[in-house]
Amino acid sequence: MDTLLDKEKKPFSDLTLIAIEAALLAGDLLRSGFGTTFQIKSKEGHHNLVTEYDHKAERAIIDFISKHVPNSHFLAEESGESGKARSPDTLLWVIDPLDGTVNFAHNIPFFSVSIGLEQQGKITSGVVYAPMTHELFVAEHGCGSFLNGVKIHASPIPTLDRSILATGFPYNLAENPSHCIDHFVDILRAGIPIRRLGSAAIDFAYTAAGRFEGFFEVSLSPWDCAAGKLLVEEAGGHVTTWNGSPFSIHSRAPVLATNGAIHKEAMALLTRKS
Ligand code: IPD
Ligand code: CA
Repeated sequence: MDTLLDKEKKPFSDLTLIAIEAALLAGDLLRSGFGTTFQIKSKEGHHNLVTEYDHKAERAIIDFISKHVPNSHFLAEESGESGKARSPDTLLWVIDPLDGTVNFAHNIPFFSVSIGLEQQGKITSGVVYAPMTHELFVAEHGCGSFLNGVKIHASPIPTLDRSILATGFPYNLAENPSHCIDHFVDILRAGIPIRRLGSAAIDFAYTAAGRFEGFFEVSLSPWDCAAGKLLVEEAGGHVTTWNGSPFSIHSRAPVLATNGAIHKEAMALLTRKS
């Protein structure tokens, strides 16, 4: 079989190539399940869904990576932490097997597989694969970000008034609506177009590709943002918390990812006291 792993001239490290292969494998599975009849359950809250394909895709990713990299440790959305005991040298694969589950469950073809590799506290590889649009976003630390093999760059747009932004909302929005709706309204009032696509991993990837000037969300899980953070940074963008401090994927802090140029303006808007 001619796979990326077999190629003589490898564009990325072996670990990145393994993440790519795993994401493509899971993406094929999701594509085959899309639009069919499958089992859907609610997690905490009515709208936080999980389908049998979330589980299938996650199993396929973990099995594939474990086979090729036996000393791996995993942090995955459906099965949590698993693998060998963690040490400073642990390879931690942070996996969202289906980011955009609500879209998938409603036959909306907008979802992704997200795999980030963390080594000694740093994300070194990031892959986001959108199987229905056949878009494979890959980043490796120090090598840049790529879409289907072509280098991508964050948008050159210099100001917020010429920007388009993306956001998402947590499932517990109803418990504390003012927490994130206020910013949404502020941005709309400022006349800035805003999108809510339903897959945070894709929001980051589109920011890396210059389709959005920025993306923000009030609270994300590590698997929603591990690959995306590296994609944006390697594309020349900037990722911080809303007040500008370094963003850790494990913190669940409000995150802002931009092309860099609009970062300060976006921070000011998100932290503005009304
Ligand atoms: C969700 C999506 C959504 C974001 C939510 C996430 P899931 O992940 O990324 O865009 O707004 O915060 O939880 O549940 O589809 O894997
Ligand atoms: Ca997710």
